[in-house]
Amino acid sequence: MHMRKRELIAGFSKLDRLQKIDKVLHHIQEEQNIKAELESYRHTNPQVQKLFDEFSENTITNFFMPYGISPNVLINGKLYHVPMVIEESSVVAAASNSAKFWSTRGGFKASVKSMHKIGQVHFVWEGDGAKLHYLMPDIKERLIKRTALITSNMRARGGGILDIELVDMTAQLDNYYQLKATFDTRDSMGANFINTCLEEFAAELRMFFLECKHFTDHERDVQIIMSILSNFTPECVVECLVECPIDDLAGVDDTLTPLEFAQKFEKAVRIAQIDIHRATTHNKGIFNGIDAVALATGQDFRAIEACGHTFASRNGRYSSLTDVSIENGVFKYTLTVALAVGTIGGLTALHPLAKRSLQLLDNPNAEQLMMILATMGMANNFSAVKSLITKGIQLGHMKMHLLNILNHFGATLAEKEAAVEHFKTHKVSFSGVEDFLICIREKEVPNTI
Ligand code: MEV
Repeated sequence: MHMRKRELIAGFSKLDRLQKIDKVLHHIQEEQNIKAELESYRHTNPQVQKLFDEFSENTITNFFMPYGISPNVLINGKLYHVPMVIEESSVVAAASNSAKFWSTRGGFKASVKSMHKIGQVHFVWEGDGAKLHYLMPDIKERLIKRTALITSNMRARGGGILDIELVDMTAQLDNYYQLKATFDTRDSMGANFINTCLEEFAAELRMFFLECKHFTDHERDVQIIMSILSNFTPECVVECLVECPIDDLAGVDDTLTPLEFAQKFEKAVRIAQIDIHRATTHNKGIFNGIDAVALATGQDFRAIEACGHTFASRNGRYSSLTDVSIENGVFKYTLTVALAVGTIGGLTALHPLAKRSLQLLDNPNAEQLMMILATMGMANNFSAVKSLITKGIQLGHMKMHLLNILNHFGATLAEKEAAVEHFKTHKVSFSGVEDFLICIREKEVPNTI
């Protein structure tokens, strides 16, 4: 694609959609083809399209992602067929494989410890810190009162503001304090709720400093730096585990005995616990599963990722989110992760497929969705580590990637069928598939190893 000189575009957001497309494409060759393609990805129902357009800014079309199902996931005795949105070809297969394996060995067991979330008002104040600590009960009472209307619905649902504490950070940064508030947002993610409360806290704090008779004139001056929730939610912890007698691992792999498999698996997890390079990839495999369900159910996957990786560093060093034990002949694998989700509000009711995904999962509450996400993380990770310590990752990965490679070379349906058959017994590689297609197009017998 040849590019002519690109120029700054003034007032882009004010242009209508077609004008935006014109502005973006006018210097690009193939402009008409691209325009037609962008149009082809728009929804045929204008109402639905409008909904999508309004999710974001400057939208010109939709971006498709595959929506798949990982069937037979047994969590706490209940069977789920879990929707996953992911572009990586082997993720759904890996999750399904693991789910099937564990479904006959007791399934996944998951539990949630708590769902409390944190928000902070960061402020700078040059005054007597002891006085501030002393006045904190009064401040807290005013903050709660100020937000009473905003929190009334949430309180009616059993949630709301649980606590507000003063955190003295002056040893780390001159005159820096925080109001650290803990919230229970029930089944909603609660980001807007928390941020609205925090901004009210900040305004009330300012008032308090102006009005309080205990402060000197100098102490009336407070600088609010920012008010924002924290995406680190270390109390929103979900634990997930699978376990079985080592002998029941029979069939997991035909090159290792069950005990050899369990011991090699344990080594692989220990490596992810002590080496941050491996830990990052190990945890990425967990997020393959978590993110795919998060996307399918309309969750803020960036928040979930950010929190998960911070949680993985909670002991001062980035490490694996999973742990393994082999004791008294029992193989036990656990995942502990902090993640915050919502099953009401946000995109969950607005995005038609997010809504359907939740329906497929029997409309879980936030706690149940946390368990489903963590389970799918664990399912993916188990399959990944299993492959890594046995056949290697590329065999399965490239098999799943075969269709992508065939599509890259514009293979016909007949060519695809022939290739799928051929590569059942041959190693898939980019060049191998290219050679195969050249051969069958020239009607030769392919010679792929
Ligand atoms: C690939 O998306 C994920 C893996 O790299 C995870 C892992 O190495 O554990 C296979």
